[in-house]
Amino acid sequence: MAFARRFGEPVVLPRRGKASPPDFPEIETTADRLELGGRFGMEHDEWLRRRRHTLLRGWHCDHGARVDPPAATILRAETVPPYGGDTTWSNLAAAYAGLSAPLREFADGLRAEHRLGVGYQPRPGDDAYVRHLLDRQVATLHPLVRVHPETGERILYVNGYYVEQIAGLSRPESGAILDLLLEQAVRPEYTVRFRWEPGSVAFWDNRATMHLAPGDTAHLDHPRIMHRVMLAGDVPVGVDGEASEPITGPAPGRW
Ligand SMILES: [Fe+2]
Repeated sequence: MAFARRFGEPVVLPRRGKASPPDFPEIETTADRLELGGRFGMEHDEWLRRRRHTLLRGWHCDHGARVDPPAATILRAETVPPYGGDTTWSNLAAAYAGLSAPLREFADGLRAEHRLGVGYQPRPGDDAYVRHLLDRQVATLHPLVRVHPETGERILYVNGYYVEQIAGLSRPESGAILDLLLEQAVRPEYTVRFRWEPGSVAFWDNRATMHLAPGDTAHLDHPRIMHRVMLAGDVPVGVDGEASEPITGPAPGRW
């Protein structure tokens, strides 16, 4: 927490993980599989399967459907598997710069709807996760290319987890363009992969990167417990200077 406060204002979450340290509501425990599964009345593996509507699904920025996604995330490893469980990041400024000029210009003018729960396949009958999604809907129209508030770089603001639809395009057009941009964004030359040890700390710019939560923890079946602190972020701004438009969800600064 002391480290995090040197760089910004830690987000205080309304809900806490069971393994979060006492007296620190800003610290969230992630990737505690039993806890996640129990919350929605199904095993974590099934929950993941139902959410995975595309192979690039795991790529996300944290809380990207909010109108003000966190500026940065700091993740500290508590318990890690002896192998596997690596995290991978992609540099979305480099991915944008690597697009051809006509495609950059095309993307500059577009916006996309980001929504929590995109592509989730509900369980037949009652599904606690669907009720959770309906109770706490979060969606925002973000620029497809955002301008970094500190560096001025243009960021290809896509991910496989939250992006529902490019505004103004048909569904098939949007799907094809998103596939193309996501494939661009996960090219190996734009990515870095990190192997965790107990006590490792990763600190990333959540505005200029997306990351891939490890998909191998399910079949490797080792516990992996991480502590996460996020720093409050601002509302993204597009190349045209226009800010993201909220569709539904908490107001900026509210969690
Ligand atoms: Fe994440």
